[in-house]
Amino acid sequence: MPSIVYLNGEFLPITQAQVPVMDRGFLFGDAVYEVIPFFNGVGFRLEQHLQRLQYSLDAVGITLDLDWKTLFSQLLNVNPGTHQAVYLQVSRGVMPKRSLRYDEDIVPTVFAYSYPIQLALGGDLAQVAGVTAVTVNDQRWGRCDIKATGLLANVLAIREAHQRGVQEALLVRQGYLTEGASCNLFVVEQGRVYTPLMDSHTLAGTTRSLLLELIRDAGIECIEQPIAVERLRQADEIWISSSTRGVLPVVQVNGEAVATGTPGPLWLNVATLFQQFEQQMLTEHETSR
Ligand code: PDD
Repeated sequence: MPSIVYLNGEFLPITQAQVPVMDRGFLFGDAVYEVIPFFNGVGFRLEQHLQRLQYSLDAVGITLDLDWKTLFSQLLNVNPGTHQAVYLQVSRGVMPKRSLRYDEDIVPTVFAYSYPIQLALGGDLAQVAGVTAVTVNDQRWGRCDIKATGLLANVLAIREAHQRGVQEALLVRQGYLTEGASCNLFVVEQGRVYTPLMDSHTLAGTTRSLLLELIRDAGIECIEQPIAVERLRQADEIWISSSTRGVLPVVQVNGEAVATGTPGPLWLNVATLFQQFEQQMLTEHETSR
């Protein structure tokens, strides 16, 4: 069964969903997006995702008024999977000519599809394999706080990582870590957790903000500050976070083991809190039925 997608007000099979070649998302990457996991139909950090979507839309000046929650639940209902992620993309729309300028009355293109996912960190944490990574020059534009679809620099960073035989690229701008190619970053030193400050060179992750809450509520110190890339070599632990992956330990950077080269104790602690948060989300869903 082909999946059913949402395109401009219609639900239709993915094979029939088509966007005109003059769409500005296709020509210019003039578009923003979100990736939102739904566990048992409950959106993970849904309000935070919707706020970030509105932030991105406002930042690029796309105006539209849609009931996102209804759209998502309709999409999830017509597709298989207990747990699904929704990819949502809004482009500025279609113009007859390829021109940087656009008419104010242009109509945005809204596309969403969903696909089955596993619960992030759903299994035994002792079985979680660490992630291998390399540091890569951050070649992205100056507004990484907007979740925009122009991801060529991210694609090239992951391409470089794969060519160097590892899974993840940690991005470095002028000597400081910004984030991963599609995730945020944490560094542990002597029992304290550090994460880069959010600015126009980073995306304010919804998972990152949850982790900050969980870590601080547990009484562990977590400091947001610029992190020089050299600190990776001395780090006791390094983690990455994103909606679809939760929080994962990085065990090797640039061919060198991170501490013992195995997932660290603080990661296990925080990943357990993360799992408990997920379980609570699922339980609340069951009891509200
Ligand atoms: N990526 N930084 C970047 C550059 C990202 O692309 C993402 C998410 C994050 C983490 O954000 P969140 O915790 O809200 O998922 C940080 C999504 C998953 C993607 O592009 O597929």
